Amino acid sequence: MSQKIEQLLKPLSPYSAKNLYYSFFGAFLRTFGRLSCGINTGFTYGFDSGIIMNYIYDNKARGKFGIGPLLDRMFLDQVTCKAFRSIKQIQINMIDRYLRESVKKPTFIVDLASGKADYIYEILKSSSDHKLKVLLCDIAESSLRESRKIADELGVGDKVSFRRGDALDTKNLRQIEPKPDLLIEVGLYGIIHDDAIVRTHLLNIGKILCPKAILFNVQTQNPQIELIARALRNQHGEKCVWHLRPAEKIIGWAEEAGFRDPEIVMDPYNIYAVVMMTGK
Ligand SMILES: C[S@@+](CC[C@H](N)C(=O)[O-])C[C@H]1O[C@@H](n2cnc3c(N)ncnc32)[C@H](O)[C@@H]1O
Repeated sequence: MSQKIEQLLKPLSPYSAKNLYYSFFGAFLRTFGRLSCGINTGFTYGFDSGIIMNYIYDNKARGKFGIGPLLDRMFLDQVTCKAFRSIKQIQINMIDRYLRESVKKPTFIVDLASGKADYIYEILKSSSDHKLKVLLCDIAESSLRESRKIADELGVGDKVSFRRGDALDTKNLRQIEPKPDLLIEVGLYGIIHDDAIVRTHLLNIGKILCPKAILFNVQTQNPQIELIARALRNQHGEKCVWHLRPAEKIIGWAEEAGFRDPEIVMDPYNIYAVVMMTGK
């Protein structure tokens, strides 16, 4: 698996058919492709950003001239985009069940890499009477700014607070108060290539934040992984290389960190595993 990552990070031989194909396709996307609102958003903010995730969740084809919306629909119908929409719903179902099981108890949710946190707003819209408070954290101010606008539009500003911070920074984690009941980090591990960082991060979550439950997702396989790596760009303008891992690997690290009883739901395309585990 790590060899696959190394292959994806390595440039292709300049005269190979594969290189010509991805260079041509990448150039097409960066030029004409930008007539599609989604592809333009991806190249502006990064295809690993919270902003593109929300665009994909919305699933409304938009773009310039006649061709833009058509290209956008093709983009939104890609299997990876379908999987994103699917895991959003799986995550909502899992959060909703967690809240129903802890009914009437005040609940504090912390999302450490929230993006715009569309799934959280769906929950807030449907559970207005629950004593629920949410802290949305992200390293990107742009996503938090957009998310704040949604909170204001929905009139749920009293339930949601925001914090810019690095999920991997222990100093940042120590400043999170009170300790969360449910900790969410979805869409984070796939952009971290170093296994040791994810493993240590989970140990830190267990030690510092001690949540009663944790919800995460794992990208386990993706038929478009090479296309995404060679033709798209991440938030830093670099190749958008995503790290595939077996769900069991991350579940094992979470178990080392003290979490137990994994409930695993795969999306229908078998790309993502969504996992909920109980804390200590
Ligand atoms: C793929 S998006 C997922 C957004 C959202 N959780 C969702 O699933 O729709 C990844 C998010 O992680 C954020 N991120 C990346 N590295 C981070 C870090 N070290 N600490 C906090 N957030 C991070 C990005 O800014 C981005 O919003």
